[in-house]
Amino acid sequence: MRSDNPGSVENLFDAVAQNYDPLNDVFSFGLHRVWKRQLLIWLQPVDGESWLDLCCGTGDLALALARCVRPNGSVLGIDSAEQPLSIAKKRALNASWLPISWQKGDALDTGLSSNQFDGAVMAYGLRNLADPSLGLKELRRLLKKSGRAGILDFNRTEEGSLSAQFQRLYLRRFVVPVAAQVGFREHYAYLEESLKRFPNGSVQESLALEAGFEAVSYRTLAGGQMGALLLQA
Ligand SMILES: C[S@@+](CC[C@H](N)C(=O)[O-])C[C@H]1O[C@@H](n2cnc3c(N)ncnc32)[C@H](O)[C@@H]1O
Repeated sequence: MRSDNPGSVENLFDAVAQNYDPLNDVFSFGLHRVWKRQLLIWLQPVDGESWLDLCCGTGDLALALARCVRPNGSVLGIDSAEQPLSIAKKRALNASWLPISWQKGDALDTGLSSNQFDGAVMAYGLRNLADPSLGLKELRRLLKKSGRAGILDFNRTEEGSLSAQFQRLYLRRFVVPVAAQVGFREHYAYLEESLKRFPNGSVQESLALEAGFEAVSYRTLAGGQMGALLLQA
């Protein structure tokens, strides 16, 4: 499975969609919610703003964003896979007062008009894009001047570091064996493969500057296991 094969990335997330949220809770010990909340604390979305969640999956961040920008703002969640998106739509039905809409689409080429969002997030999406640099350019294009964005993902740890050893053990000895028990060994083995190709924090900062962002900063979370790229257009 490679992220430069969009069809197979889509199939992967369609296949795991029903188990994605419970597995996420198990693999992160529920902490993914804390990291997502932290991202929103850094980005400060407020009532009346228009936000985008690219690679929204089952909608965690889009729903949290909608709570921040309600009642006058709006959130659009975009994902290329049908199954996670349909779970996101069902979750939103339970909170019908939230100003949120969903769209199937490609984060590399959304087809949306330029300079329309006050802010955007992407959680665990950039690593899955065939071309992260192109993803950052598309993100920049969609933001208004001074719009802000936050990209949350695994931190690409330095080869040979204690952090890298921990990450490898965690993925090989915990994530993959647990996923294998519910029939998703290969799907989660892909995580380590995708991380090998994923740019580290400082390369992500350079790519974001090349994409036209004015201000960029990379912060780590979870003792260096996760990272957030914070951007201003
Ligand atoms: C690991 S999941 C993350 C979902 C969600 N953001 C979260 O944090 O729980 C990655 C998501 O990115 C989506 N994705 C991958 N490539 C994409 C692309 N080119 N355009 C839009 N969505 C994409 C997948 O379908 C999947 O739902």
